[in-house]
Amino acid sequence: MILVVDDDISVTTSLSLLLKQAGYQTATAASAAEALEWLERGGCELVLQDMNFSRQTTGEEGMELLQEIKQRWASVPVILMTAWGSIELAVQGIKAGAADFVTKPWTNKQILQAVKTALGLAAATPSTERTITRKELDCQGDFANIIGTDPQLLKVLEVVSRVAPTDASVLITGESGTGKDEIAQALFRNSSRRDQPFVKVNLGGISSTLFDSEMFGHVKGAFTDARQDRTGRFALADGGTIFLDEIGDLAPSGQVKLLRVLQDRTYEVLGSSKTRSVDVRVISATNQNLLELVESGAFREDLLYRLNLIVLHLPPLRQRPEDIPLLARHFALGAAQAYRRDLEIDAAALSWLQTLPWPGNIRQLKQLIERTALMSSSRILGTDDFSAALSMQPEEGQSGSSDLPAPGTMTLDELERSMIVQCMERYQGNISRVAQALGLSRAALYRRFEKYGIAP
Ligand SMILES: Nc1ncnc2c1ncn2[C@@H]1O[C@H](COP(=O)(O)OP(=O)(O)O)[C@@H](O)[C@H]1O
Ligand SMILES: [Mg+2]
Repeated sequence: MILVVDDDISVTTSLSLLLKQAGYQTATAASAAEALEWLERGGCELVLQDMNFSRQTTGEEGMELLQEIKQRWASVPVILMTAWGSIELAVQGIKAGAADFVTKPWTNKQILQAVKTALGLAAATPSTERTITRKELDCQGDFANIIGTDPQLLKVLEVVSRVAPTDASVLITGESGTGKDEIAQALFRNSSRRDQPFVKVNLGGISSTLFDSEMFGHVKGAFTDARQDRTGRFALADGGTIFLDEIGDLAPSGQVKLLRVLQDRTYEVLGSSKTRSVDVRVISATNQNLLELVESGAFREDLLYRLNLIVLHLPPLRQRPEDIPLLARHFALGAAQAYRRDLEIDAAALSWLQTLPWPGNIRQLKQLIERTALMSSSRILGTDDFSAALSMQPEEGQSGSSDLPAPGTMTLDELERSMIVQCMERYQGNISRVAQALGLSRAALYRRFEKYGIAP
């Protein structure tokens, strides 16, 4: 049963009608006391609660009710309804344990999606605290591309298998190279939207001026260079999943626009006044600390709460040394297949690899294995092979050693491309540092990735 709490009878009536039509049982309450009575009777699976009831606009009473519900019925999810102006209140509510919030005026679709997601997540909560084994996980979902048995990783995969089928927004955090893209893919592959589009957008690579056109599309003539219609990323992702990578790099103007589409699931194509609606599941990722960015004012708190219903944190490789041999063998196998030869790594080398700090995480390990396989012709790779290859991975602070190629041997484009690739290796794919080293903005760097077909 879903309990709808609002002192405005027109709201409770219309919501309970909507929910009944969607197949849910409902009850309504006009005050906090009435709501608590319903909860005490039991059988309540979800509460849809107005924050500003009793004509009190401070939201105090709503907040108290929420706190009491969370204290006494912690497992019952609460969705808050707040007025547009009181986002601050919704954010406080989320901190106090609310599952989600919808702002007034809402659409029926929004309410139903929020209810479905909250109920789905509640049903997916594990009943035991026992850590699941890798074997069990592999039975539950498709995690074939994700190697590892580290407890922190298994915990992440367990949450992935639980939340993948829901439409809940997921934020993936972790240092560069820890596998955020892989996890986003796994969420998609194990979701009910797996046959629909998966659209990845690198928000660090989109300049503020191009944001609208890139994300929402434009019609021919919308601005000087708009020679033909362009389909935006949200339209491409409609019905499927959108993966917002490097979300911490999004400029404030983009944050507002993104908030609107995530909140209302509507947007306008540039140059057209028609409002379109979109149905997407949102996955985002960042290697930055969004809470810190919120504190410093660089990231909107309300946007954060739209993204982080579920947070998955990937540990750095140095915190999961047990997985290093598994990963190393996995990458060696890949290299063996690519170069059509037999390839193994000896035991001493595997232990030695476990002692390295891996600032570039799994990406760096993969590059090292591939480079070593290229440089050494032996069938069994040993510590010497790896340390030789590692010393070729340019150290930081080392001055540019190679002379410029002889005139006529390389075009400027080729030179530029190879410089970018070298910088990517030196800084283990850390985009900010690569951009800095090349004297480019991040956006300019991403444009060059696209131009030269380099995968960041
Ligand atoms: N658990 C894993 N098992 C095997 N390969 C992995 C794993 N995690 C990451 N990788 C590989 O490491 C590289 C970097 O991973 P990626 O997901 O792009 O990291 P991030 O997005 O966090 O920078 C990719 O080549 C990816 O395929
Ligand atoms: Mg990534």
